[in-house]
Amino acid sequence: MSKFYNTVMFLMRFGIKQFVQELLYRYNNWYYDRWLNVNTAHMIKKSALGINKTDSIDYVPIGYRAIYSMLKKIPIDKSHCTFLDYGSGKGRAVVVAAIFSFKRIIGVEISDKLVAIAQTNIANMKHRKTIQIEIIQSDATEFIVSRDVNIIYFFNPFIRETLQKVVDNIYFSYKEYPRKIYILFFNDDHFEKIIKNQDWIKKTYQTRFYPNYSYGLYETV
Ligand SMILES: C[S@@+](CC[C@H](N)C(=O)[O-])C[C@H]1O[C@@H](n2cnc3c(N)ncnc32)[C@H](O)[C@@H]1O
Repeated sequence: MSKFYNTVMFLMRFGIKQFVQELLYRYNNWYYDRWLNVNTAHMIKKSALGINKTDSIDYVPIGYRAIYSMLKKIPIDKSHCTFLDYGSGKGRAVVVAAIFSFKRIIGVEISDKLVAIAQTNIANMKHRKTIQIEIIQSDATEFIVSRDVNIIYFFNPFIRETLQKVVDNIYFSYKEYPRKIYILFFNDDHFEKIIKNQDWIKKTYQTRFYPNYSYGLYETV
C-alpha cells in the first residue's frame, strides 16, 4: 500500500519521464550489485553510524553507471595507477574500480561498520581484476597521500574545513612528488569553491548524471 502510494506521489510530482529514468536507475544499481555479488545499496544516515562530525555527509552509494563511465574516461593505463576513494562507504566505487586492472586501490572511510561491510564485499566480489585493495578506517583528514596515488575520487563525502584539509593534503603530496593526478569529483560545487584561484589544478571535463550529479574531472598541471 505505501509502495503504491509512493509511486503515485512520485508520478504526480515528477511525471512519467523521470519515473522511467528512476526505474532504470534503480534496476541498473540492483543488477550490478548482483553481477558483482556485493551489497552496496541503501543510504545510511551518519547518526545511525555514530558519526557526529558536522562536515560529514551520510552514506549514499554512487550510481554504477556514473562511476563506471567516468573511470573509463580517464585516458591512462590503469595498471600503473593507484586509485583512492575518500569516504569509501560500503565499497561501491572500490569494487567498480577493481573491475579494471589497477596497480592498487585504497578506500578511506571513517565508519568502522561501513569498513567491515566494504571488506566483506571485496572478499565476495566477482569479476575482480585488481589484487591489491585496502580499506582503511580513518578520518580522511588524517590520511597521508602516498606518492603512488594518482587517481582520487570523491562522491560528496564531506564539506567545508574537512574538504579543505583533505585538498591541502593532496596538494602537499603533489608538491613533494610532482606528478599527474586525476581528481574525479561528483557534486563538485564544494570542491570548486576550495580550488578557485589555485594554479596547480584545473578542470578538464564536466558533465551530469541521473539523478542529479554534477561531475567534474580535474588534473594537476
Ligand atoms: C556519499 S558516501 C560515498 C560512498 C562511496 N564513495 C560511493 O561512491 O559509493 C560518503 C561517505 O563518506 C564517509 N565520510 C564522511 N566523513 C568522512 C571523513 N571525515 N573521513 C572519511 N570518510 C568520511 C561517510 O561515512 C560515507 O560513507
